Amino acid sequence: MQNIAVIGTGYVGLVSGAGISDYGHNVVCADIDKTKIEQLNKGEIPIYEPGLHELVNRNVNFNRLSFTANVDEAIRNADVIFIAVGTPEGENGASDLTAVYEVARAIGENLNGYKVVCTKSTVPIGTGEKITNIIKDVSKNINEFDYVSNPEFLREGSAVKDFLWPDRVIIGASGSRAFKTMKNVYRPLYINETPIIETTVETAELIKYASNAFLSVKISYINEIANMCDEIGADVHVVSKAMGIDGRISPKFLHPGPGYGGSCFPKDTKALISMAKEMGIDLNVVSGAVVANQLQKERMAQKLLNLFDGDIKNKTIAILGLAFKAQTDDIRESPAIEIINTLNKNGALIRAFDPAANENMKKRFNDLKTFDSWEEAVKDADGVVIMTEWNEFRGLDLLKLKGLLKSPVLLDCRNILRMDDLETMGFKYDNVGRKKR
Ligand SMILES: NC(=O)c1ccc[n+]([C@@H]2O[C@H](COP(=O)([O-])OP(=O)(O)OC[C@H]3O[C@@H](n4cnc5c(N)ncnc54)[C@H](O)[C@@H]3O)[C@@H](O)[C@H]2O)c1
Repeated sequence: MQNIAVIGTGYVGLVSGAGISDYGHNVVCADIDKTKIEQLNKGEIPIYEPGLHELVNRNVNFNRLSFTANVDEAIRNADVIFIAVGTPEGENGASDLTAVYEVARAIGENLNGYKVVCTKSTVPIGTGEKITNIIKDVSKNINEFDYVSNPEFLREGSAVKDFLWPDRVIIGASGSRAFKTMKNVYRPLYINETPIIETTVETAELIKYASNAFLSVKISYINEIANMCDEIGADVHVVSKAMGIDGRISPKFLHPGPGYGGSCFPKDTKALISMAKEMGIDLNVVSGAVVANQLQKERMAQKLLNLFDGDIKNKTIAILGLAFKAQTDDIRESPAIEIINTLNKNGALIRAFDPAANENMKKRFNDLKTFDSWEEAVKDADGVVIMTEWNEFRGLDLLKLKGLLKSPVLLDCRNILRMDDLETMGFKYDNVGRKKR
């Protein structure tokens, strides 16, 4: 058992902290957000993530998991410190590393013995070296430490499962002592024979960006193929199914939609492009994916306008789904934001519903009218747009929906409804690359 501090208790830090405590270690999750820590100490989970409540409760009850706003103390008491603070988009697409460097300084100030400092946050190549130098400078080299890059691949919505049963774990370090410590942290995964890649810090840092950028490219690619399907009357689902059977391609991430969002793909693609540019390398493929993604978001807004012949002024539109994907309350870079902006710009009235993200979207759009059920949101609306693939929207009772709407107009940005049903029931509809001509 090791004493572990996880600094930053957001989507990654909270899941990782709870997950590592589940491996049997003694974990304290620290955050400068006192409200968040107060909530956690009262047994409340500040984010929506399936299975997280149970995981946190179980480990708190076993006294293996605790929460504090005292970052310094958490660092002093730890053998291993995980940095899991945010790295949002900064200037010109580069990562803003303010929080990471703040934590590095705090580690330097509180380095009271040998520790392993491990970064889980997604940070540009070379950040490990900068963190190491900050800690050395601030601590005046009195105590030893090792630095590890351990990028996180969990997906919001299935984060608990992804953390406890990952496809692979990447450990980038420079010395055997650090690898040995990390092996101990992840002992259950070594026993399970989870693929664990031991490599250098820089390689580990690049693996994370290369993976996220690749997935973004795959999404943008199938979205552009879907746009072609729109033009020729082909069904993109048949195209992607046939493509995915080819083992070299794989069926994953070939589902067309309104463009990727979330806290990772948008910022990580831009950060990778920015890093490459500094090296004098143009990442044309990734740059293309970024452009295509923005155009896809705009294309969905245009599709919605087209369903109303371009005039949506004073029309009431129900938006079903605000989160950037199902099973999360995260709205960062959500395609729903583009739709809300377009509707606002064109003088439409919005009634929105998301099973988990209403509150977060209201923080961004103060006057957004949200409802507690899809039935309330669609009542007397002139049309409805599905932005997130929540299961409850997959099973929409179309007869009921038609009865509640003022006019049966529907845009399915996630391709989750059956076109035959929509047609039989007389809906005017559109989707992403599937509509019959
Ligand atoms: N969200 C994901 O799905 C995901 C997946 C893999 C990797 N990542 C990466 O993990 C990192 C964290 O992402 P997230 O989504 O969990 O972010 P988040 O915004 O949800 O959480 C970050 C937390 O760090 C805290 N924080 C900021 N500065 C701090 C400081 N100086 N000391 C202590 N706490 C501080 C904030 O209060 C916040 O609670 C990012 O680099 C992200 O790219 C995210």
